[in-house]
Amino acid sequence: MKGILMAGGAGSRLYPLTQVVSKQLQPVYDKPMIYYPLTVLMAGGIREICLIATPEDLPRFRQLLGDGHQWGIQIVYRVQSQPEGIAQAFLIAADFIGEGPVTLILGDNLFFGGDALPRAFASFSGGASIFAYHVTNPECYGVVEFDSEGRACSLEEKPAQPRSHFAVPGVYLYDHQVVSIARDLTPSPRGELEITDVNREYLRRGQLHVTRLSRGFAWLDAGTSTSLYDAAAYVQTIEKRQGIKLGCPEEAALRRGFVSVELLDQWLASMPICEYRDYLQGISHEYRR
Ligand code: G1P
Repeated sequence: MKGILMAGGAGSRLYPLTQVVSKQLQPVYDKPMIYYPLTVLMAGGIREICLIATPEDLPRFRQLLGDGHQWGIQIVYRVQSQPEGIAQAFLIAADFIGEGPVTLILGDNLFFGGDALPRAFASFSGGASIFAYHVTNPECYGVVEFDSEGRACSLEEKPAQPRSHFAVPGVYLYDHQVVSIARDLTPSPRGELEITDVNREYLRRGQLHVTRLSRGFAWLDAGTSTSLYDAAAYVQTIEKRQGIKLGCPEEAALRRGFVSVELLDQWLASMPICEYRDYLQGISHEYRR
């Protein structure tokens, strides 16, 4: 399974924060936002990742994440020159995807808790696999409706009158069909190739699998100043309580066996003295005990 990190878009809802710094590079408490979805991919065992960003922002992402070798992964970069939709990612990254399955995760979506996502990555066997999450404001998202037997029966993008309270979070698993499905899409009234239209096509083909994320699982998006603030508060609360960091790629790399503790130590040596380094030093000691 390969992974696409979608970090395009103008971030206009976060203006003026995003005038100079991309949305997905904004801090969510103690780390850049992009660390969180990147860590979800890594914790799910995905090591080949393509990051898509605007031409202006891409050099900054490259500066932050490099080619990924420090975390035992490979990161390649592609440009989305116009904000023409999430599903355009499959056209931009078609050569990267090749013939295998791919997970796309949005750079401003944060997922915490449970093992629903790693399990879905590990058990994926074809078609499309997406998630449903109960929210108070479904009209802001893709919305999935279930029939009386609990099967997904409709999908709509930001409907004025949602048919359910189940939003579709920004993490999607697809088989090889996704590139050709994306090629056949037509832009929506907002001028974008919609990810919801990709999911609808899989639903039409009878190949869409929807997993409901359970009560207590946290899905936050950080696209507005309020939700960005809420996400930071959430991360701070959990990290302070547990003494464990969320969205830490170094730790995910070590725990998944992508890097040795020796490589982590080398990386630590180049890090400034800070709370983040202290935390990783603690993990390194744990592994050496
Ligand atoms: C996008 C998708 C939407 C999805 C949401 C998740 O919306 O179009 O279906 O529910 O991400 O964050 P956007 O935030 O790009 O408008």
